[in-house]
Amino acid sequence: NWKLTLTIFIILPPILLVAKAFARRVRRFSHVNMRSLGEMTHILQESIKGHKIVKIHNGREYEKQRFFQVANRIRQFQQKALVAGAGNTAAVELITAITVSVVIVLSTLYAIQEQQSVGHLLAFYIALGLTLSPAKRLASAMQPLQKGLAAAESIFEVLDEEREKDLGTHELPRVNGDIIFCNVSFSYPGTDKQVLKNINLKLKKGMNIALVGHSGSGKTTIANLIPRFYDIEQGSITLDGVDLRDIKLQSLREQIAIVSQDIVLFNDSVLANITYGMSPRPTMEQIQKAIKLANAEEFISQLSEGVETPLGEDGATLSGGQRQRLAIARAFLKDTPLLILDEATSALDAKTEELIEESLDRLKSSKTTITIAHRLSTIINADLIYVMKDGEINSKGTHAELLEKSELYRQLYQSGNLDPS
Ligand SMILES: Nc1ncnc2c1ncn2[C@@H]1O[C@H](COP(=O)(O)OP(=O)(O)O)[C@@H](O)[C@H]1O
Ligand SMILES: [Mg+2]
Repeated sequence: NWKLTLTIFIILPPILLVAKAFARRVRRFSHVNMRSLGEMTHILQESIKGHKIVKIHNGREYEKQRFFQVANRIRQFQQKALVAGAGNTAAVELITAITVSVVIVLSTLYAIQEQQSVGHLLAFYIALGLTLSPAKRLASAMQPLQKGLAAAESIFEVLDEEREKDLGTHELPRVNGDIIFCNVSFSYPGTDKQVLKNINLKLKKGMNIALVGHSGSGKTTIANLIPRFYDIEQGSITLDGVDLRDIKLQSLREQIAIVSQDIVLFNDSVLANITYGMSPRPTMEQIQKAIKLANAEEFISQLSEGVETPLGEDGATLSGGQRQRLAIARAFLKDTPLLILDEATSALDAKTEELIEESLDRLKSSKTTITIAHRLSTIINADLIYVMKDGEINSKGTHAELLEKSELYRQLYQSGNLDPS
């Protein structure tokens, strides 16, 4: 009966429209939910890791509130998603019920007018029932589907992140370590502020240069550019005459060791930490030698299981100076031609600093080194000192020369702190 069938086709689309509207709500709420779950993990992690700060600054209430807020948001949106899902089922059922009633009324009318047989009608009803239940099932599949889609979107956001550009083809053998910065300007991605302006730097093999300047003047940024943690927009940086962008990233980074202020240690043994990422694995002899050169022998031997001692999360069981010496041992083992020391000796007591200075001096010999330091003793012997100011090189020279010609250097020197924060 074409008239009846037509009636059904007129009434069916609303089912789909309603299902779609609910589906959109479910998807939106699932999105918020997922983001809030991430936030909750983040808050938990922060407050557990920073438990000392939380306690000393009386931040318990604040953390509790932060957690409560996000937990509450999750509850709210989960509830909304559930309501939307349930509403979907109810609305679909309602519309089907209405459809069926309308069809029954109409068919009865047609039947009376056109003298259709009861058999025909019955067949039609059965067919109608058979079509409606898959349609309902389709509508109820919408909800898990939408939740899945919301999750997939979050995953694809991460997958779609741009890869580190690695278009270089040069594989470098062990380099000499000649680095040249030529008119380099740089701003961090997503910011307007130029943090480096027209930088020109020259390092020859085995040279030891130092960068000094007020905090925020761009010293660490210069160090970040050499292993290409960021790419420059203007100017060029070359290593042994090859533009950094033409060198394979891995090959470039194999040439560089960095010891910085924030040392990352993994939840693993001392041994695993200082041989991190090295293949082939260095021999025990090499490892012992590196430990010795880093002045780390004594404290490691006092650990309960020597080099096999697990360090706990982020090396929580070690002091600042001990962590630093592990990082230096790492750099000794890596034995690269290029070395970057970024405030490697800050926040240490005089005796530990002496120990570390001593091992750093050993480490620096025969390497091209960039030292960023805020203590005079670390840089007084540098071959060349660059004084940075607001992203520019203010002046350069040896310690004696700079004392003579640079007002800024004299100020830094007199304050006794070459990177006053
Ligand atoms: N990841 C980053 N994103 C945006 N701006 C940054 C980033 N890191 C540093 N900066 C900015 O760059 C400038 C130079 O910072 P930095 O090189 O760390 O200085 P320094 O090491 O001399 O103290 C500062 O103004 C700082 O705010
Ligand atoms: Mg810095």
